[in-house]
Amino acid sequence: MKKLLLLTVIVALVSVLLFREERIGIAIIDKIVAIVASSSSVLLHRYHPNTSISTNPAPAIPSPDDNLQSHKLSVPPNTHLHATAMSIPRAIRKVFLAVEQAEGAGARVRRSVGTPQLKNFSPFLMLDHFSIKPGAGFPDHPHRGQETITYLLSGAVDHEDFAGNKGTIGPGDLQFMTAGRGIVHAEMPAQNPDGSANVGLQLWVDLPAKLKACEPRYRDLRAAEVPSVQVDDGKVTVKVISGQSHGIDSVKDLAYTPVWILDIEIQPGGKIAQPLPQGWNAFAYALEGTTLFGPKGNQTTVEQYHNAVFEPAGEVVLAEVDAGADKSARFVLIAGTPLDQKVVQYGPFVLNSQEEVYKAFMDYQTYTNGFERAKGWESEIGKSMVR
Ligand SMILES: *[C@@H]1O[C@H](CO)[C@@H](O)[C@H](O)[C@H]1NC(C)=O
Ligand SMILES: *[C@@H]1O[C@H](CO)[C@@H](O)[C@H](O)[C@H]1NC(C)=O
Repeated sequence: MKKLLLLTVIVALVSVLLFREERIGIAIIDKIVAIVASSSSVLLHRYHPNTSISTNPAPAIPSPDDNLQSHKLSVPPNTHLHATAMSIPRAIRKVFLAVEQAEGAGARVRRSVGTPQLKNFSPFLMLDHFSIKPGAGFPDHPHRGQETITYLLSGAVDHEDFAGNKGTIGPGDLQFMTAGRGIVHAEMPAQNPDGSANVGLQLWVDLPAKLKACEPRYRDLRAAEVPSVQVDDGKVTVKVISGQSHGIDSVKDLAYTPVWILDIEIQPGGKIAQPLPQGWNAFAYALEGTTLFGPKGNQTTVEQYHNAVFEPAGEVVLAEVDAGADKSARFVLIAGTPLDQKVVQYGPFVLNSQEEVYKAFMDYQTYTNGFERAKGWESEIGKSMVR
């Protein structure tokens, strides 16, 4: 009997966590077994609600402002960076194809950060270029310790969390979600009547150790709030999602970890020199067309669905599209402050040590230390999905 219960808990826990993250993998099953062995009664509580055990009362929740005040991050200077003829171009470290893979039923994903091709690229944990058909999605699941940034390219995605936040983002909209000490939410792509897929990018950004315990926060950024700037006589358009380009600033305070995100479209014959903060990790993921990166005479060709990773040294990224190209090119240029800390990640929990990861599992299972509101909560939008 005890063995059967243990097995049930393991299967339940693994299936809850696996629907989103294959990366939890075999390793975590071992960990779960260890945790279950040491405290099976606590875990049983999660899946057998009628088993009564006492849990700690929910602690008072500090306001996001308190957290921001006490954990103010250093951000890049507010002055504008400008390219000159003397600016040193960033060299390309590597270019690789983000291979399309299936993720769950109905979802296709090109992962360009967070695979063996590109790991340990702080503060970036993952970049997925997703395409999700109606009927698929990501029902209720937890996060702790990171930020997720979702940029929708077509279709729509609904979200709902245990703190009562709810909404829909459409084409060109973004959602910045800071998981902090804990969030449980659902992300469900729209059921488009024509059956078309919902397409977008999801970037996972690590949080500095001192911010991992902050209150969770959402910030939706509407397409209309994203300023854009035209360069090279209108042949280049830069949507300044986060950061700055050619004197134009994005909306501020979107993510806690300083990150720049620029969506750049270059027509045939157009070119741009885009400054980035020095020393930040940076890459360009090609959404469409063919872009030539680097100075004339030493350019690297980057095709659609490829990721170009830049060396941290240098002042500007140089990009152009051949005048004879038959269409424009479009890529996202993403840069972020490298965080000098260990990353220990099991699926949706991103912390700094194994112990903190075990604690995240326990807190999630016992509705404590940030997961209090998970108790009895179930999203409305996640119910549509057959589990
Ligand atoms: C838990 O208790 C409720 C109310 O007493 C009951 O309706 C439900 O069937 C019980 N669930 C289980 C799994 O025993
Ligand atoms: C040419 O570009 C590559 C890739 O960016 C770089 O590694 C190399 O140093 C460059 N060579 C010269 C001579 O600048």
